[in-house]
Amino acid sequence: MRHRRARSATLPVPSPILPAPAPPVTALLELVRVGKRVGHSRPRRLFTAIDLRVDAGSLLAIVGESGCGKSTLLNLMAGLDRPDEGQVVFGGEDLAGLGEAQAARLRRERIGFVFQAFHLLPHLTLRQNVALPLRLAGSPSRAALARADESLAEVGLPGRGDEAVAVLSGGESQRVALARALVHRPALVLADEPTGNLDPESAAGVLALLRERTREHGVACVMVTHSTTAAAIADRAFRLGHDGLTEVAAT
Ligand SMILES: Nc1ncnc2c1ncn2[C@@H]1O[C@H](COP(=O)(O)OP(=O)(O)OP(=O)(O)O)[C@@H](O)[C@H]1O
Ligand SMILES: [Mg+2]
Repeated sequence: MRHRRARSATLPVPSPILPAPAPPVTALLELVRVGKRVGHSRPRRLFTAIDLRVDAGSLLAIVGESGCGKSTLLNLMAGLDRPDEGQVVFGGEDLAGLGEAQAARLRRERIGFVFQAFHLLPHLTLRQNVALPLRLAGSPSRAALARADESLAEVGLPGRGDEAVAVLSGGESQRVALARALVHRPALVLADEPTGNLDPESAAGVLALLRERTREHGVACVMVTHSTTAAAIADRAFRLGHDGLTEVAAT
């Protein structure tokens, strides 16, 4: 008896039952009722009432007719353009509240871009091309070039850093562009028709890489595409129209 009493005396006081920690409430990127008009003399509405939440690790596809405003929408997400209505909120911060220098810094540090036309600089080697975002952000040359080599290896081009842009195939060019977009480990990749200039096999390789980077490395990606194959690898796909984004089956 004595023994049992001694044990019960040392039992910890039960703590009050606390709720489980809530998942993060802040999206990486959030568009709230975003609208955009273009043209000065005869302005016209491109789109309105766009609501979109982009979380870390998710890959979203946006499809739509040519000229409907897909590239404009990506520019809004990057703070390269301002909405006429609504808010673009990155990491909990309304981009409208940032000055040019702050917006440029956010793009340099947290966003990677991939374009249909690759936009590689022909007079630089692959390594120098990929290292560019790091150099622009002030990284010392040696560290930036070493990280560029890693990034090239991550997209399946190990040991190719010394090569010239001119010798690359289309698929390889886009993989170098992807390595450049990812080299500074951005939180968000904005891809504007990243497979538009590629044959189906190269396109599949680039899409698989994008998919892997988002799912396994927690990068978020918004991809504009005309390709149903590309839209099919996304977690969610949306059609852009005048009245906003409509979710379409991502199959
Ligand atoms: N700064 C601007 N001033 C005037 N018009 C503009 C401006 N930016 C875009 N536009 C117009 O807005 C429309 C949408 O352009 P945007 O490039 O976003 O389309 P898109 O959906 O990306 O087309 P595509 O599929 O052909 O690339 C186009 O008609 C374009 O001419
Ligand atoms: Mg476009």
